[in-house]
Amino acid sequence: MKKFYITTAIDYANGLPHLGHAYEKVLTDVIARSRRMMGEEVYFLTGMDEHGQKVQQSARREGIEPIEFTNRIAGHFHALCEDLNISNDDFIRTTEDRHRKVVQELLQKLYDAGEIYEAEYTGFYSTRAEQFVLEKDKVNGEWPEEFGEVQEIKERNYYFRQSRYQDWLIQFLKENPDFIYPRYRLKQVLEFLKEPLNDLCISRPVERLSWGIPLPFDPNFVTYVWFDALVNYISAVGYGTPQFEDVWPADYHVIGKDIMLPPHSVYWPIMLHACGIALPKHLLVHGWWTLSGAKMSKSTGKVVDPLEMVQRFGADSFRYFVIREMTVGQDSDFSEDLFLGRYNGELGNDLGNLLSRLLNMGGRYADATVPAASISEEPEITLRENWEKSWKSAREAYDNFLFHAALEDIFNFIKGINRYAEVRAPWKLAKSEDPADRKTLETTLALMAEGLRLAACALRPVMPEVSAKILDLVGADQIDIWDERMEWGSSLEGAKMGEKTILFPRP
Ligand code: ME8
Ligand code: MG
Repeated sequence: MKKFYITTAIDYANGLPHLGHAYEKVLTDVIARSRRMMGEEVYFLTGMDEHGQKVQQSARREGIEPIEFTNRIAGHFHALCEDLNISNDDFIRTTEDRHRKVVQELLQKLYDAGEIYEAEYTGFYSTRAEQFVLEKDKVNGEWPEEFGEVQEIKERNYYFRQSRYQDWLIQFLKENPDFIYPRYRLKQVLEFLKEPLNDLCISRPVERLSWGIPLPFDPNFVTYVWFDALVNYISAVGYGTPQFEDVWPADYHVIGKDIMLPPHSVYWPIMLHACGIALPKHLLVHGWWTLSGAKMSKSTGKVVDPLEMVQRFGADSFRYFVIREMTVGQDSDFSEDLFLGRYNGELGNDLGNLLSRLLNMGGRYADATVPAASISEEPEITLRENWEKSWKSAREAYDNFLFHAALEDIFNFIKGINRYAEVRAPWKLAKSEDPADRKTLETTLALMAEGLRLAACALRPVMPEVSAKILDLVGADQIDIWDERMEWGSSLEGAKMGEKTILFPRP
């Protein structure tokens, strides 16, 4: 059976990981983990984009080979994946042979088919953006800051005849309006395609850029940026081998909005179509993390170090925050205050305290063993209905990439467990000699444990470690699939509870 194949963008090896990279990996991981919980077989790819002028320049500045430079940066991105508990199956680097081979094979194929030609071009070139820029890109007669230094150059290069596929692409997008998620972004692409599409320059002369994959039909050139980077999605999964069909086409390419148009929504579909390869099923386009409204970026130095946050608060707290805070597709502002608000509030008070209360009372009143739930009155019924409603809604939200809403639903339920505990007040019942009160006390502890079990299972894609810990502490089995165990009342009676634990220590 074909696997559910999901990818992140591959990160430029020209700087250290920041919050934007961390978010994209966590988002993709949440999708991968939730699909596994839904019973799908998932293949999850991430990796590094290692060629290009900036890498070449940075390495030269340090007096080292580009590969030494990218090895070091790749190490940091590897560590990011480890530290964030990313469940990727593979990590592709565009400097690997398996990638280089496929890039050259596709280039040769397109060249032989007459889809690539050589031509001379005079234009303005931005080193920082690694692209030719146009007069119309000027703002108030000046090149904007993001382009850095801009020079006029004349150059022979190779071009991919993508313009001939413009009508085909428009047709394809109109017939597949769910190709891009969120759907409203399709309008932008169709708008872009109202202007005539230029052929795509796919090379750089080696004198200017040697750190790239040589064109197989002309060694005086290397291929440049997108013809290299985009191909990672197929080179990593054995393009040209029988195994390829088990994985390709990708179900989702998860990318930021800055690389939707034109690379992923125009170049990539056309490249694949011209090569006779099936198109990915969807792009999932997320927004930007900003710091006081400005995009976090390596070139401005305005960045949040995700690893520092992870060290201070744990991977799961970080994962919770970014997934809860950002609506997929929209931008979000990052601040430590917002982070601490959620960390101390939802995580510390609502979830963490609930668990320590249960474990504390379990130890004191029930020999650390989940008692029987023997009564079912209005508070018990309300809690059960709360679960059924919350999980139905959260499950749908998981299906629809509304992860912030899924978390909101699950935390509404967690708040419901807290309310239930307040109403039953087992700490008061414990003082009574009446056997009926004893039954209510036991029922309350049992339902708090059951509620926490279900909440932990529901939170699993976002907080895998916290989920596993809670399940252990309430004496429940770990689960790796959302099956009938997501139904209320799969009784924990007799399960051994753990020692009182602080899940989210105060900073
Ligand atoms: O674009 N908020 O690499 P990259 C959210 N190598 N996401 C952000 C972000 C922010 N502030 N800043 C960056 C590249 N990203 C190419 C991709 S894919 C075949 C080649 C996201 O390191 C960005 O949108 O600049 C992209 O999806 C990813 O991080 C890597 O960005
Ligand atoms: Mg970028």
